[in-house]
Amino acid sequence: MNRKLLLAANWKMNKLSGEAREFVLSYAAKLAESSVATVLLPPNTALVAVASTCKESGKGPVGLAFGAQNCYFQSSGAFTGEVSPQMLVDLGCRYVVLGHSERRAIFGESDELIGKKVKAALDAGLTPIFCIGETLDERNGGKLEEVLTRQVRVGLELVSDADLHKVVIAYEPVWAIGTGVVATPAQAQDAHKFVRSLLAKRSAQAAGQMQILYGGSVKPDNCFELMSQDDIDGALVGGASLEVESLLALHKECVRASK
Ligand code: PGA
Repeated sequence: MNRKLLLAANWKMNKLSGEAREFVLSYAAKLAESSVATVLLPPNTALVAVASTCKESGKGPVGLAFGAQNCYFQSSGAFTGEVSPQMLVDLGCRYVVLGHSERRAIFGESDELIGKKVKAALDAGLTPIFCIGETLDERNGGKLEEVLTRQVRVGLELVSDADLHKVVIAYEPVWAIGTGVVATPAQAQDAHKFVRSLLAKRSAQAAGQMQILYGGSVKPDNCFELMSQDDIDGALVGGASLEVESLLALHKECVRASK
């Protein structure tokens, strides 16, 4: 497997810009050189601070990149409260999270809407981190594969086979997000393998290249085993990404798992 691991820090609605700035300076100063990139995903209000401190840190986007947690699919216009992919590019973002389960559950985002956002983000030159995952009821009801199949099909419907490899997928079982209940490495690997098989139906080449991240209660003490699974190519981390030492520990575990 020659896919590199990616560590994505989803700060959700946390950190004021000054806190974000301090975080980046401290994290970058202690971050070891490696093949594992860190992607910081602050709230939009802290993006400027993160952009300028990432630049100051001199780490370069290969080691330390940043992005947003959401965007709209239009480039500009009368869409009060929304932010466009082009606006994120303007700030130096390389990534954008789309279809996070909190966006789906709390803000009612549909597979179709997320599909439009994925396409628009790609067209603007961003790498979408496209989130999928089942609820506990869906898993217990034997619907895991059906749900993932629908989310992948509709979410990537507008992306051409030639562009598919540019998308990062994040498999995040909803029951594992913020609960402390992490999927077992075997459960996660099974789901990732299934998702990769869905992608292979579109393009075998892209499926082999695409990073599929696991998310949901990843912590330093469970990270290594998860990241060592064949089809797991990184982590999307919420709670454990909010403290510098914890994110550094996660990064260390990712580096250990890449060897
Ligand atoms: P968690 O969140 O690590 O706090 O479970 C993950 C996510 O929502 O991306």
